[in-house]
Amino acid sequence: MSVIQSTTPNSTEERKKVTTRLIQAMKTRHEPISMLTAYDYPTALMMDQMGMDIILVGDSLGMVVLGYDSTLPVTMNEMIHHCKAVARGAKYALLVGDMPFMSYQVSTSEAVRNAGRFLQEAGMNAVKLEGGSERAETIRAIVNTGIPVMGHLGLTPQSIHQLGGYRTQGRDADAAYTLLENAQVLQEAGCFSIVLESIPGRLAELVSLRLEIPTIGIGAGAGCDGQVLVTHDLLGIFERFTPKFVKRYANLSTEMRKAFSEYIAGVKSKTFPGAEHTVDMSEDEWKCLEERLTQESPRFIVHDPSVR
Ligand code: KIV
Repeated sequence: MSVIQSTTPNSTEERKKVTTRLIQAMKTRHEPISMLTAYDYPTALMMDQMGMDIILVGDSLGMVVLGYDSTLPVTMNEMIHHCKAVARGAKYALLVGDMPFMSYQVSTSEAVRNAGRFLQEAGMNAVKLEGGSERAETIRAIVNTGIPVMGHLGLTPQSIHQLGGYRTQGRDADAAYTLLENAQVLQEAGCFSIVLESIPGRLAELVSLRLEIPTIGIGAGAGCDGQVLVTHDLLGIFERFTPKFVKRYANLSTEMRKAFSEYIAGVKSKTFPGAEHTVDMSEDEWKCLEERLTQESPRFIVHDPSVR
């Protein structure tokens, strides 16, 4: 029997790269899966150092980093650009690139080509895409190319206009049944995992128990196999709105505003930069420069910083 390591090794073990196989093993042994979004190098590096299992370069990028009103305007090139930065920072976490709106809906071949870019150009290990049974053929084709696919059901932000807003999904028996059916179709199509966004906790737990593959919940309660949040929500740096299901682990916007305001005050009052932030030049070299300037070109008068 092969042994699959935990993602949290003890201090003597070197951490190994998280794979889709390991994610599956975590479900089998009821070990919760941690996932967060990242869009840049330093954040990915810190998450990786702290032992994150999965890092998702979500198309939430569009809203929390690029300032769009929704995820719909996000392009493949924008995703690839940010995925590359994340891949440079994270060595161990499983890296999932989110396929943006219109990168997988038009045709299967376009979907496969775009999914391939996430692995070939951007250093991702898997892709995520939104939708149920209508995506089964596309998922099968991408998986057949050797690219692991994470599904996404429930509140699927790329269909926001069809859903009529950012509202909880699967609340009535019919919708819940359809969601369960869709989850099974995604599993059969070859998804290695499914994100369940904003659905009742009881439904998410049922789906998680019925599926062999792991579920990752966001606003779907504690019954999922793993959890994900948008990092800017968790850190308190996206203030336009905060979904009810978000837990703020920090309030960085307050810290950032304080730092920006102190910096402005420091610049205006000339208390920054101080001597400790300034590189000095030796007296000898300075004298040398003064002499040279006065000899070579009398129009250069050495500026005395004490005289303003
Ligand atoms: O884009 C994103 O960040 C996501 C998560 C909310 C799962 O899809």
